[in-house]
Amino acid sequence: MEALALRAYAPADFEALHALDQACFPPGIAYSRAELRSFLEHPSSSTAVARLRSTVVGFAIVRPVRRRTMALPLAPVCAMMHVLTIDVDPGARRQGVGGALMRWIFERAAQARSQAVVLEVASDNSVAQSFYQSFGFVVTGTVPGYYNGVTDALQLERQLRGAAGPIGS
Ligand SMILES: CC(C)(COP(=O)(O)OP(=O)(O)OC[C@H]1O[C@@H](n2cnc3c(N)ncnc32)[C@H](O)[C@@H]1OP(=O)(O)O)[C@@H](O)C(=O)NCCC(=O)NCCS
Repeated sequence: MEALALRAYAPADFEALHALDQACFPPGIAYSRAELRSFLEHPSSSTAVARLRSTVVGFAIVRPVRRRTMALPLAPVCAMMHVLTIDVDPGARRQGVGGALMRWIFERAAQARSQAVVLEVASDNSVAQSFYQSFGFVVTGTVPGYYNGVTDALQLERQLRGAAGPIGS
């Protein structure tokens, strides 16, 4: 996509990212300012900000975690990359912004020698589910009432090839 650029989060981005998150998710699921700030400023979080012709059009936040893969419950606990959110401006969707952020996530996961990328998605968010499916994520579980005690979350996982990098997408 022409002129799409990713860079690391800077505190001056905060208001734009908060507005974007409010536009992406319904009330109650969108992050409060305090929640968003705590995720962005957590020492182990990494955030990529996507800009198109110097306008912020998306962002993604990830954090390394140690977990047992849900696909193999007896497997040892290992390093994984947890996606806290991917947000793309409603006016900039279906142009590859989310895909660029997902490729950044795979790069971060490879750098951190993660075995898999994991995330939760609302069971009624069919667009995001299609998006993740297109990047090879599979459903590994369900968390009843994960969102506000009402909406279930699907747990998704995308195995990476060893610690070297993502399976070719
Ligand atoms: C999910 C989201 C991040 C996708 O961002 P995007 O920039 O539109 O994604 P891309 O343009 O890179 O799409 C990549 C692929 O995902 C799939 N996809 C994306 N949007 C889709 C849709 N509306 N319907 C079906 N498939 C879709 C397609 O396979 C697409 O490839 P294609 O356009 O070549 O067919 C965006 O819709 C969004 O921000 N939604 C609201 C926030 C959200 O739900 N985030 C995820 C929370 S867990």
